[in-house]
Amino acid sequence: MFPAQSIYLKLSEWAREYGDFYSLKMGPEKIIVLSSAKAVKEFLDMRGPSTADRPSAHIPDQVHKGDSLVWGRYSERWKLMRKTVHAILTPASAEKTCSIQFAESTQLLHDLLHNPKLHFQHVRRLSASVIFSVLYGKRVPRYESYEATSMFNLLHAGEHLFLPGAQLPVDMFPFLKYLPEGPFIAITPWKKKCKDLKEMHQNLFFGSLEQCKGRIERGESAGCLMEQILERYQKEFGLTWHEVGYIGGTLLEGGIDTSTSILQMLIMLLPCYPEVQQKAQEKIDRVVGHDRIPQRDDIKNLPYVQAIIKELGRFGPPLPFGVPHATIQDEEYRGYIVPKGCTVFQNQWGIFHDPETFENPDQFWPDRYLLTKYGTKPDVDDSFFRDTIMFGAGRRICPGMHIANSSLTINVMNLLWAFTYSKAKDPLTGSEIPIDPTKMSDGFALFPLPFECSIQPRSQKIADLIHKHFVDAIDVFTQYEDALQQEDKEYVARVRSDLI
Ligand code: HEM
Repeated sequence: MFPAQSIYLKLSEWAREYGDFYSLKMGPEKIIVLSSAKAVKEFLDMRGPSTADRPSAHIPDQVHKGDSLVWGRYSERWKLMRKTVHAILTPASAEKTCSIQFAESTQLLHDLLHNPKLHFQHVRRLSASVIFSVLYGKRVPRYESYEATSMFNLLHAGEHLFLPGAQLPVDMFPFLKYLPEGPFIAITPWKKKCKDLKEMHQNLFFGSLEQCKGRIERGESAGCLMEQILERYQKEFGLTWHEVGYIGGTLLEGGIDTSTSILQMLIMLLPCYPEVQQKAQEKIDRVVGHDRIPQRDDIKNLPYVQAIIKELGRFGPPLPFGVPHATIQDEEYRGYIVPKGCTVFQNQWGIFHDPETFENPDQFWPDRYLLTKYGTKPDVDDSFFRDTIMFGAGRRICPGMHIANSSLTINVMNLLWAFTYSKAKDPLTGSEIPIDPTKMSDGFALFPLPFECSIQPRSQKIADLIHKHFVDAIDVFTQYEDALQQEDKEYVARVRSDLI
């Protein structure tokens, strides 16, 4: 029976008991769970074409009619949508996004400098703004911006609808989907939720796309990725307006929570592991110092920071049980027949927290990546590992990983360079307020639960540099601000008049 809560922990507990390849039943659905790099490589990577489907799912289909890049079934239409995304999300295009990524990162530092208590919101705003700027040429200057709040509401609603087992009655008894909504509302609540979510998609995804179309028609293209699709690939690949809208929408959905998850995890872990923080800052001081802000190329000379980025993905993989794949035909594996249409989970938490493979897996210890290439114990055969396991597998592997990697590099370096993170103190007793780094949210994406911490600039020189770079970034920001809503324009003007 599929677990209703803490899915990633339960799947991993079962992996310790039943091994790295076991099966489950959820109503009529057959599920297999892969919990080692070997099983992922052999089953998902090496059988890419026959494991590239997504499970047939009534709920997502109600919302996007099969046009979601993330949830869509493996079909000729899906292949064209994926081809479009590969055409726009190349390593070279990720490189071109660096100036806005860097500018947004300076806003993150500036926000943390002036209002450190709202660190959760600042990180979330950053992730939303980067993806909106890159896709639609329009940034999100504040957490309360229409795009940000709509997107966060939409992600929240989707998470609760699409989580395996979240709509158990219809998963267990598929005939329920044929009941009309009105008289059976009490047993078909998902129908209304699907309609609401669809409306949110309509407003945000298609509203943002309309703005790109308007700019093209007025001859004012900003060169953003959705404009590239409208100007070139829509015609070249014969995509409908609905498909283009959902390409943008699913890139937003795929990119925001995942990038947020890793950076929030870093801010939670640094006060808990002061020795890691100290070591990283010593290394950064040697390479960068306090007289300039880190540049992306500095990462080459900072192997310990590289190790921190890898360890963040291992300690808290943002999608701890991946996104389920499904088999397209019967497959034989380890002497068993995995039938056509079987759901396949890539249990990333189980892989990365396996004590046979990783020394003290529940400890945040970046040094493991300096000792062996994939951070595994020295005597473990790591030939099945690759650097990109947290990005999924086979033909469905995350197409946003180049942008994600450059965003992580810029922000992890900047956050380590800029601030000291320590546990907050109780104002009455003066004692430290504990943070439990094992407490995470319980959904598709993994987030730290809310926690308090103190975030202080490491020196006055650094605080001055943050201010200076935020002012310098205005030239980059303004390229993405033409279409801002009136309240956002006023907010930006207010912040800037205080700056200068
Ligand atoms: C640290 C950041 C990220 C992580 C850890 C991550 C992880 C993943 C994972 C595990 C999957 C499922 C792959 C599979 O089914 O095997 C996925 C899919 C996807 N990701 Fe990401 N992702 C990240 C950032 C991004 C970004 C920045 C974007 C967009 C710009 C993005 C867009 C997508 C899309 C569209 C899919 C669906 C692909 C498909 O089904 O063909 N992701 N991601």
